[in-house]
Amino acid sequence: MNRKDEHLKLALDFHKEKRLSDFDNIDFVHNVFPEINMNDVDITTNIAGYDLNHPFHINGMTGGSELTKKYNQMLAILARETKTFMGVGSLSIALKDESTHDSFKIARRENPNGIIFANLGADKTLEDAKKACEIIDADGIQIHVNVCQEIVMPEGERQFSGWLDNISKIVDGLGLPVLVKEVGFGMSKPAIKSLKEIGVTTIDVSGKGGTNFAKIENSRRTNDKYNFLENYGNSTVVSLLEAQEYINNIDIIASGGIRNSMDIVKSLSLGAKSVAMAGRFLSLVNELGMEEAIEEVNNWKYQIKSIMTLLGAKNISELQKTDIIIRNEVREWAELRNIDVKKLANRKK
Ligand code: FNR
Repeated sequence: MNRKDEHLKLALDFHKEKRLSDFDNIDFVHNVFPEINMNDVDITTNIAGYDLNHPFHINGMTGGSELTKKYNQMLAILARETKTFMGVGSLSIALKDESTHDSFKIARRENPNGIIFANLGADKTLEDAKKACEIIDADGIQIHVNVCQEIVMPEGERQFSGWLDNISKIVDGLGLPVLVKEVGFGMSKPAIKSLKEIGVTTIDVSGKGGTNFAKIENSRRTNDKYNFLENYGNSTVVSLLEAQEYINNIDIIASGGIRNSMDIVKSLSLGAKSVAMAGRFLSLVNELGMEEAIEEVNNWKYQIKSIMTLLGAKNISELQKTDIIIRNEVREWAELRNIDVKKLANRKK
């Protein structure tokens, strides 16, 4: 089976499993007197220079085959109808094989006025990035950094030097916004610092807790399994804590294992400017008809507003001043890394 089709099918199976999440190690302090009305709540945000109607979006996933074209089409219709920012999957295959272009271009055809980002790995050059953006008339590009996935992939890359230099050249020369993302193993403070130093201003931490590419690639290996990497990586919550020093000067995006509207609000409260979902959107268009999927996404917007009302936060910047309690092993991580969880628990005056 084609690798892209295999990823898609394995990810759909994977999302049927119930998993523990670090988001369950976070609590808000109940606000008895919010003293605001639901109509007062503004859930708009801005990432990579684009205004978004709501603080969640569709993360880069797919393209490159007939099957994935169908998914890109469904995701693009959903994005258009709900005014949601969307990324397509890696266009690496499109740089080599023109016959795959249409499986990506479909996203732009279905959503001519939407914000759509291209996607490539950090091993690619500025010229590659320009070409990828041209193919879908992109509004920007997601550059993925996926060392752990490559390591587990039998046919994966083994040369990882020069990635920061490649990203730096793309940032300097592309003339479009560049968003750097992980693929489910998370970010750390030094990684964010390195990206900031080369001029990256939008970073998706894409942490552990959701789609697990160590598990997916491992199940594609016939022997010599890499089971020991299936729990490797920084969770999304841990990655957001690692990003704390940068939330005021970098657009931080949370992704990786976002299960519901409460996880979205918790991520925003920890400093994310938008929250991306891949597996969840894939399951949504796979399991529901388009009308129901649109309704579900619109429900999420309403739910986010409800939770923000409950917390007395009129907008995302007020949400980032609510008290948030970090518990258990996440607290242990934070303490060992000198991240001040007591400050997060006492932000309200
Ligand atoms: C992905 N993801 C991904 N990321 C990327 O930057 N380029 C890609 O081509 C792909 N391909 C891909 C295929 C499929 C089927 C899935 C489910 C995911 C990773 C994705 O953008 C995200 O970082 C992780 O999936 C973690 O988020 P979720 O799925 O837990 O919400």
